[in-house]
Parts: sequence; C-alpha cells; structure tokens
Amino acid sequence: MNRLERVRQNVDGILRAAPDPEDRRCGFVHLYGVSLTATLLARARELDAELAGVAGMLHDLVNYESSDPTGHAERSAERAGELLRTTGDFSEAEITQIQSGIAYHSDKTGLHGAFEELMKDADVLQHALYNLQLEPDPRHRERRERLLEELSALR
Ligand SMILES: [Fe+2]
Repeated sequence: MNRLERVRQNVDGILRAAPDPEDRRCGFVHLYGVSLTATLLARARELDAELAGVAGMLHDLVNYESSDPTGHAERSAERAGELLRTTGDFSEAEITQIQSGIAYHSDKTGLHGAFEELMKDADVLQHALYNLQLEPDPRHRERRERLLEELSALR
C-alpha cells in the first residue's frame, strides 16, 4: 500500500462515518471523482499528479464530516494538514502545496497559481462529467467551457 492509498483509507473511514447517507454517497462520488479529474489534468499539464490526487480526495472533506459547508475550503485545507501530518507520509512542503490547492478551490473566478487553478478545474470538471446535461453553476460556466475544450484536444 502506498501513501495515496493510506490517505484514501482515512477518507473512506471519514465518509463511512458521515451521519447523512446521501452526504456519504455524494462524498464518495465527488471526492474520488475530483481526485481522478485532478490526476488527469495534472498529467496533461505536467504537474504533480499524486499530490493533485490527494488534494482532490481532501478538498471538500469537512462538508461530509460536519454537514456544514461554511468556509469549507479553508476548513478543509486545515483538516487536510492535520490528516496528512498524522500519516507521517508527506513533507511540510507537500502539505503546504496541497493545502493551498484546497484553500483557493472555491474562488472559481479568481486566478491563482498552477496547482490552485488545477484544483478549481478538477472540481468543475467532476461536476461537468457527472452529468453533461445538467445546467452548470453560472460562476463555473466559463471555466467549464474552457475545460471541455481542453479535453477535446485529447481526442
Ligand atoms: Fe468540490
């Protein structure tokens, strides 16, 4: 088992303990979905795919742990730091990068660094691919169009 799987075990445990069964289902779909889209985009953009996959798994964690979305990006970044330090598998520099990607992921209209933008894109892409027929959040529309265009280049 590698360190990504050890993070997944932690996330599995947290999601299984989520009080609301619908939150639990959404948590598995969304967190692991964003982990996959983050890994895919990181490989395409030559960024760190492992750290992107880990950040994806943790980016909304407090939503499912507490069912309280208030300030969830900053709170999930804090929670991610706590969880990753407990595993002892990640350097402080890696934890800082993961936390930064998580902390800024809700600011979809702002522009941040490559890793932070990757996490925003991974989030929007998971929502898009979950059901292409669903109307996107208007704040995500432009980013979503750009991402679907980027993916069409993979054809
Ligand atoms: Fe998300």
